Amino acid sequence: MPYSLNVNGKSQTVDVDEDTPLLWALRDSLGIVGPKYGCGVGLCGACTVHMDGQPVRSCSLPVSAVGAAKITTIEGVGANPIGKKVQDAWIELDVAQCGYCQPGQIMSATALLASNPKPTDADIDAAMSGNLCRCATYTRIRNAIKKASG
Ligand code: FES
Repeated sequence: MPYSLNVNGKSQTVDVDEDTPLLWALRDSLGIVGPKYGCGVGLCGACTVHMDGQPVRSCSLPVSAVGAAKITTIEGVGANPIGKKVQDAWIELDVAQCGYCQPGQIMSATALLASNPKPTDADIDAAMSGNLCRCATYTRIRNAIKKASG
């Protein structure tokens, strides 16, 4: 069934079943492959996108639940000044190792700084605890969030 999605400021139509996860509508129907598949059950954060600015796990969100909400992915987050600052800090501090989880990390970090421009270490831990990194880049992630908040 066709669903109209607003992704990165553009209206697009996907023709999928109602329970298709948003992640697959983005990746398979629209070719937006920044959001990654990790666990498929909302536990690792690799698939994180924004829905009206809030971080959501796109692997666990049926496309039928999106409605008119604005979806932003790593491909579009740089249009937001906070997202751009986060991406610049990520590059400057060379955060990524294998890189697989990093789109999700950046989306969660951007949402954190949008709601809390000067997060404490505890705030960062709380906001980022759902984004796992197998290369354990956590220290660089925290430093990049602090840099972007400065
Ligand atoms: Fe969605 Fe792991 S793939 S949380």
